[in-house]
Amino acid sequence: MTKPSLATVVLAAGQGSRMLSDTPKVLHKIAGRAMVNHVLAAISPLNPEVSIVVIAPHMAAVAEAVAPVKTVYQVQPLGTGDAVKAAEPLLKGFLGDVFILFGDTPLIRTETLETMRRERQKSGNPGIVVLGFRPKDPGPYGRLITDRQGHLDRIVEAREASTVEQAVTLCNSGVMVVDGKILFSLVNALKNNNTKKEFYLTEIIALARQQGRICSIVEAEEEELLGINDRTDLARAESALQDRLRQAAMKAGVTMVDPQTVWLSSDTKFSRDVMIEPCVFFGPGVEIGEGAVIHGFSHLEQTKVAARASIGPYARLRPGTVIGEDVRVGNFVEIKNSRLDSGSKANHLSYLGDAIVGANANIGAGTITCNYDGFRKSTTTVGAGAFIGSNSALVAPITIGAGAIVGAGSTITRDVASDAVVVARTPQNETPGAATRFRSRGKSGKISKS
Ligand code: UD1
Ligand code: MG
Repeated sequence: MTKPSLATVVLAAGQGSRMLSDTPKVLHKIAGRAMVNHVLAAISPLNPEVSIVVIAPHMAAVAEAVAPVKTVYQVQPLGTGDAVKAAEPLLKGFLGDVFILFGDTPLIRTETLETMRRERQKSGNPGIVVLGFRPKDPGPYGRLITDRQGHLDRIVEAREASTVEQAVTLCNSGVMVVDGKILFSLVNALKNNNTKKEFYLTEIIALARQQGRICSIVEAEEEELLGINDRTDLARAESALQDRLRQAAMKAGVTMVDPQTVWLSSDTKFSRDVMIEPCVFFGPGVEIGEGAVIHGFSHLEQTKVAARASIGPYARLRPGTVIGEDVRVGNFVEIKNSRLDSGSKANHLSYLGDAIVGANANIGAGTITCNYDGFRKSTTTVGAGAFIGSNSALVAPITIGAGAIVGAGSTITRDVASDAVVVARTPQNETPGAATRFRSRGKSGKISKS
């Protein structure tokens, strides 16, 4: 049987007031990516035909962050059932499976969603498959009440539950996959006669049972279903996700001397045999090539590092940095929007901004590209094999030709031809014996303050 098509509705219109933030809750980041985008990334391998995020009217920033995924507004927060209703116009005539996910539950795994999908396709044709879990503290969660066959009979919200129902430990994660043929007839039949006067999505289970459809449960680990309500939850989710990302990197052939101190982004890409020393931070958009070494205390963001390069310790690679093969970037070197071609070196104490450094060029200690005049950024080009002496200032826009040598301590303001030697510093002025004369005048009290 071919699988019916798939749609996803992510609910994200809740206020998130416990975050105490001007940023909508689902835009808070975990491993460098907004929560809601983690949820969309988890479902994406299942190739949904339509994805919709339900947001509140003041959440234009969420619409921007999830684009090109569509968003719809839930005008008032009248409950999870009402939020799903808001997606109806975009799902008119859709008869496939509809996943409903929460934007504030970012650790959900693709494999779990796949298991739920398979369960939905099983014989018996369950109308709804709900993701359940057994939290250490079931407290506020909806309880999954099963019938004698072990099928899901209904969900009772904690605040509406009887003492017997409260004792049930199998809880509702909120994630479900529903047969699109019945979803909106169920949602439109919801009533809000409960303590919160909300339309509870959870009540569609009982309605589906009344129509003679069976409903079933797939279980997952609590860690995967951590909902984010405040900054403590956010930090807990960050920690759990970091562990996952480290494990995945090590399984793919990356060595981490002390994994707990390496911080990754969801999109960090490693080739095999990368070696990472302790205390390294990878911001978004980093790719590291085979056999590269990232020494301790380095910070990388939107940077590509090619094979066998050596970075740090204490290097800072900022957005737009492209490091070629066998390049060496040493301690206290900051690089921004620059390309260092293969075999080039910047080993100590430098700032390279808006620079193109040719193959095998050597950037001496303390070299600074002066790329900003207060108004514009300008480019510095250093040709292949050029040698920039220590403590040089290269005032951009400027080109140092291939193979040229810049004397230490130079301030270079005009282009330098290939293979030229250039020195641009105050000439040295030596007066023989002057120190002795100076000291004897000092002792006799003849030096006056000018
Ligand atoms: C919900 C479930 C509960 C489950 C728990 C798991 C219902 C009625 N209850 O309760 O059974 O155990 O999640 O965490 O569904 N949202 C909207 N619009 C609204 C209300 C909520 O978009 O009007 C969104 C929120 O942004 C959030 C999600 O729906 O992403 C869940 O809402 P929340 O208020 O956290 O539901 P719970 O009370 O936790
Ligand atoms: Mg909640």
